[in-house]
Amino acid sequence: MKIFLDTSNLEQIKKLLPYGIIDGITTNPSNLSKEGKNPKEQILAICAAFPTGDISVEVTEQEPQAVYAQAKEIAALAKNITVKIPCHKHYYEVIKKLVDEEIAVNVTLVFTLIQALMMCKLGVRYISPFVGRWDDIDINGSDILHEIREMIDGYGYQTQILAASLRNPRHLHEAISAGADVATLPPEILEKSLEHVLTNQGIEKFMADWKKLGIRQFP
Ligand code: E4P
Repeated sequence: MKIFLDTSNLEQIKKLLPYGIIDGITTNPSNLSKEGKNPKEQILAICAAFPTGDISVEVTEQEPQAVYAQAKEIAALAKNITVKIPCHKHYYEVIKKLVDEEIAVNVTLVFTLIQALMMCKLGVRYISPFVGRWDDIDINGSDILHEIREMIDGYGYQTQILAASLRNPRHLHEAISAGADVATLPPEILEKSLEHVLTNQGIEKFMADWKKLGIRQFP
């Protein structure tokens, strides 16, 4: 399973990369806007900081031909870029064209099994089901991950499930148990997911007991 960071913040990326568990980054217009910097320069800096990572960069044009042209420009920015395109029927033709040209596509804003199936038919690299945004409207967002997993395995498609809009450690747990290929997490949620109170308590207890021995050097 791959773990991506859901951020455009270079400092946070640089801070977490040494953990050795990060495989890529998902940026989007919202998190790029939050940085308040030139987005092209920010993307180039992220790609340079993480040349082995899979970096998703979303289109911001809306008219299909403009989306196609922008997707090509984005893909040409760096070798490790995957272009993110919203899962709208107006873009199906564009997505198909990009896939035929061997451009890696991550289809974002996926909410239903039907949308997921259509994107698998188009042969995209990733589909990004948005778990948290389903939860926001009181529908269990993780259910869709199980359904998509079953559909992809049943039909034998190659598309990978990128669980997105994960807002807490429980969402990550559910993405793992549903067999998602990738989970993308905001840095603070990843950090939170890596901590456990019983691990911390266990370390403290072992250290307290060890000190009772009074040994200064070991081994
Ligand atoms: C990642 O690709 C998505 O853009 C991101 O996970 C969306 O998360 P949000 O629903 O918390 O904005």
